[in-house]
Formats: sequence, C-alpha cells, structure tokens
Amino acid sequence: MAKPPIDWAAYLAAFHAHRPGITERVLQRTLSGGHTPYRWLARAVSPRAHRVVDVACGTGAMGRELARPDRTVIGVSLSTDELRLARRKTPGPWLCADARALPLADGSVDAVVSMMGAIVVQPVEEFFAEVGRVLRPGGMFAFMAPTVVPLHPRDLATSLGVVARLRSLPRFPGPTEITGYVPALVGTGLRKVEDARERYHFAVRTAQDAVDVVDALYLPLTTAERRERAVAWLVERTERDEDVRISIAMRRFVALKQGTSPEATPPA
Ligand SMILES: C[S@@+](CC[C@H](N)C(=O)[O-])C[C@H]1O[C@@H](n2cnc3c(N)ncnc32)[C@H](O)[C@@H]1O
Repeated sequence: MAKPPIDWAAYLAAFHAHRPGITERVLQRTLSGGHTPYRWLARAVSPRAHRVVDVACGTGAMGRELARPDRTVIGVSLSTDELRLARRKTPGPWLCADARALPLADGSVDAVVSMMGAIVVQPVEEFFAEVGRVLRPGGMFAFMAPTVVPLHPRDLATSLGVVARLRSLPRFPGPTEITGYVPALVGTGLRKVEDARERYHFAVRTAQDAVDVVDALYLPLTTAERRERAVAWLVERTERDEDVRISIAMRRFVALKQGTSPEATPPA
C-alpha cells in the first residue's frame, strides 16, 4: 500500500516548536577551515548592502553574522518559537511571515539570504518569485542548501551508520541534490552568477553532540526508538575515542536581480 504523503507544513511547525534553534546549534559547530556555513553565506553579501532580508531565519544566526552598524537585517520565519529566541539575542526586526508572501515592498531590499530555506520552502518557484519582487535592480540573492557532491566515500561512513540505525534518510520538503534552481529563476528577474560547493564537518565529541546532530535532522518517517538507537551508536563510538564526525556538503548559490545599479558587486 502506498504511504500517505508527508504533511510538511504540520511537520515543520511541530519540529521547530519542539526544537527551536537546533539548526543553529549544529551549524554553528559545522566547520570548513574553521568557518561555519553562515560565514560563507555572509561573504556573498556586499558591504554596501544596507537592507538585507534573511528568509527562513530560524533563531537569527545569519542576522548576527551579517551585522554591521550601517545595516538592517530583517529576519523572516514562520516559527514563532524560533523568532522568540532570535528576538532575545538581537532586536531584529523579526517578521513572522511566509517566504512565499513576504510583507515587504517591491524593490525595497539590497540583498536576500537564506540558509536552508530553498529546500524547506516549497514550491521553490513561489519563494524565488518573492525574492525577485522585493530585491532592487542589481540586488543579490544568496542561499545555501545541503547537497551530496562533493562528499567522499570516507566522509559518508558515520552518516551511513546513523542512517542504518534510523532506517531512513533525512528528508526535506524539497529535493537536496537539486537541478531545478536555475529553471525556478525563470520569470523572477534573477540570474545565476555562482553555484559552488564546500564540505563541512560536525565533530561528535559528547553525548549531547550526538543528541543534537540527530535532533537536527528532519525524520518524518522514523520512530523515537530508532533515533535513540542512532544516538546510542554515536555515543558508543565517541566513548571508544574514535574520531566521530558527520560530514555535510553545502551548496552556495548566488543570483543577481537584473537591472542597473552601481551596487551590484559580485560575491567574494
Ligand atoms: C532548517 S531551519 C533553518 C533556520 C536558519 N536559517 C538557520 O540556518 O539557522 C528552516 C526554517 O525555515 C522556517 N520556515 C519553514 N517554512 C517556511 C516558510 N514557508 N516561510 C518562512 N519560513 C519558513 C522554519 O520555521 C525554520 O525556522
């Protein structure tokens, strides 16, 4: 019998209400050359971008990475629980809104960023159309999403052990190895200027790290018992002093809004 489709809206609302900030907790310790994915995404933003929107902002890690005295970063998320945590750390502004209907005027922002938003907000075409609408001509859109390439087989050993115990792959509302980002830009006024990839690693050193890394996964088809088994397996390995790390490949995609503007600078 065919399995019923996942009710992603309900799953995401419950996930982020029960574990607000879990993505940030893991990504802030997910490193490549000592830098987090937040740092790499922030580097795409021109210092001359004064009004920036962070879509699917979670607890506001990108906003803090992008903070400058002459810049306003507007965080947008559907999760009131995550926005509450974000507000405790920085004043915002924070907007509780859907990425597919941004409460912002046409052409009113210099840059839009989104960490993980493009695989969570579906259909992605509606999200990108909104980005194209709110960006000024010459403005920049940069997002990051997990991917598979360029992981090496040796990077996958720990993840495969976790997946074997979960008996399920982590899932997202959208596909992870996406070929459709460029087609989804058609009609938005956005043009791709970069599509790059990087390997990151999360070191599992303590039992709490093991819990966090499993908690950060969207696992709508996995039982609590299987999650516990995956955590226990990771903890066992750390107790044997093995070098336990979860490798994650990330993709940074950058597009520019068509039109002339002296501020349209390519990413660094
Ligand atoms: C994987 S988390 C990423 C959080 C944050 N960008 C980070 O990396 O720390 C996905 C976020 O997208 C938000 N979200 C999901 N669907 C959304 C939608 N349609 N519009 C706006 N935010 C949404 C969730 O509430 C959650 O905060």
